[in-house]
Amino acid sequence: MATLVTRGERAGVAAPFLIEQDWKAYTPEQHAMWAELVGRRMPQLREHACREYLDGFEQIGLREDLLPDLKAVSARLSPRTGWESTPVSGFLPGDAFFAMLAARMFPTTTWLRSRESMEYTPEPDIFHDVFGHVPMHAHPVFADFLQQYGKVCAGLTDAEDLERMGRLFWFTVEFGLIRQDGGVKVYGSGLISSHGECSKVLAGGCEVKDFDLDAVLEQRFDTGAMQPLLYAVESFEQIYEAAKLAERRLG
Ligand SMILES: [Fe+2]
Repeated sequence: MATLVTRGERAGVAAPFLIEQDWKAYTPEQHAMWAELVGRRMPQLREHACREYLDGFEQIGLREDLLPDLKAVSARLSPRTGWESTPVSGFLPGDAFFAMLAARMFPTTTWLRSRESMEYTPEPDIFHDVFGHVPMHAHPVFADFLQQYGKVCAGLTDAEDLERMGRLFWFTVEFGLIRQDGGVKVYGSGLISSHGECSKVLAGGCEVKDFDLDAVLEQRFDTGAMQPLLYAVESFEQIYEAAKLAERRLG
């Protein structure tokens, strides 16, 4: 007989950070703010986001006019790739974050930025996490990559190795580009969810190099500045293979 595994058991060391999303507590102003944020990004993304992001947006049932109900998002996402968008209390320590990724649970914040912080929040909010990240989790290869990434990091103890893997996350999941349909398209959540940074990249205000695992693992970055250098992949298989290779190199 199958044993029911609870959400907390699956999350392992991240269990203390799990919360419930109180969707009914969002105010009409907050839904309007979400609609404004999404409405501001979509015209550019319809043209410049990779097709996997745009397909994922539809597949997980995101709406332009209402904040997402994470249970409903997960109900559409998990039959596709096994991923869930799991509400957490805020920023997670590394071991908890990696444990959740390895279990195909994406740590998702539930608070929404205020109007004063429309362009940028130092800590992720539900707009960055759901609008920026979660549509990509509907793509089977990206989904496998992200789990593999979590699994590799969960097995690392050396601080320098973890820093290197942080760079792989930054230059793929957060700020990744992909060559597609004769151009460079965005898939990283930091570009998807930031109008200013994405516009700068699309306008050629950033050097774009071909993705190379060894280069990425050694490439330092500044989280508080616009990125001067980003990496473009040819396919998502490339980052999945890179995560496998990283496991052999660092694990
Ligand atoms: Fe992010």
